Amino acid sequence: MKYLIIEASPRNGLSQVYARRFSELVLENNHSYEIVRVRDLQVELCIGCNACLKNGEEYCPFVRDDIGHLHDKMVDADAIVYFTPNYSLNVPGKLKMVFDRLAFIFHRPRLFGKSSLCFVTQGVYGGNKVLRYVDELMGFWGCNIVRGSVLKGSLDYKKEIGNEKEILDIFSKAIGKIDKQLGSKRYPSPSLFKLIIYRMTRSSMRYFSEATDVDKKYYEEKGWNTSDYYYKTKLNFLKKIMGKTIDRMIYGMAKKERLRLSGLETQK
Ligand SMILES: Cc1cc2nc3c(=O)[nH]c(=O)nc-3n(C[C@H](O)[C@H](O)[C@H](O)COP(=O)(O)O)c2cc1C
Repeated sequence: MKYLIIEASPRNGLSQVYARRFSELVLENNHSYEIVRVRDLQVELCIGCNACLKNGEEYCPFVRDDIGHLHDKMVDADAIVYFTPNYSLNVPGKLKMVFDRLAFIFHRPRLFGKSSLCFVTQGVYGGNKVLRYVDELMGFWGCNIVRGSVLKGSLDYKKEIGNEKEILDIFSKAIGKIDKQLGSKRYPSPSLFKLIIYRMTRSSMRYFSEATDVDKKYYEEKGWNTSDYYYKTKLNFLKKIMGKTIDRMIYGMAKKERLRLSGLETQK
């Protein structure tokens, strides 16, 4: 399996040391890895022009920086692992820049069948919020989440991790969970929440005109207008009923809206 390790500290700090130790374990478990250091990437700040959302990511005015390469590495990986510091209860600014530049993936998700794992290095407080944030984002982009943990950091320029045995144990367990996920649970049955989000999105896209052509085309090409979920999977009875109900509900809403608009036209 291919691991993409994304290390997001702006300095050669403890996150880097943790990432290295993790990568050694990845190798010991007969997987391959690549480490990307966010500080080494050339990343322009998203200017909110919406070109990627409206027309497609290839229309981003900054296509020549490193975001495209990072995107391709994510798509190519089996597991994506973040080592990020907690900066002011969030990820450091440059990683947030990366997320914003890749935000078109919220509209056109593509990381299905991959595992995502995050470790947060911090001084004292707030790392769990950062974990939840990264997990939620990667979940929306399609990944299956393995819950990581908060690791002890330091304001000093430390190069040694604390309780080595404990840390390696945490890493080994996480790799074990990824192995399991990539083995038999790559394409799990979605939670009810995920299913609802999917059916609402795709039905709205089908029946309402607000969706962009590029998103519509993406859904069409993937066969998502008619499929049960983003990928082939089993839905139990309750989920099947729920899915159909949502499809019908959105269709009904769209029909009403069309009638309302045509009524307005006739009044004019
Ligand atoms: C700008 C900045 C903001 C920080 N905010 C927090 C914080 O909100 N909570 C916390 O526990 N530690 C915070 N820290 C401490 C870092 O998380 C800690 O130094 C960590 O070890 C940095 O990771 P690194 O060693 O990989 O660079 C902050 C540090 C900096 C420089």
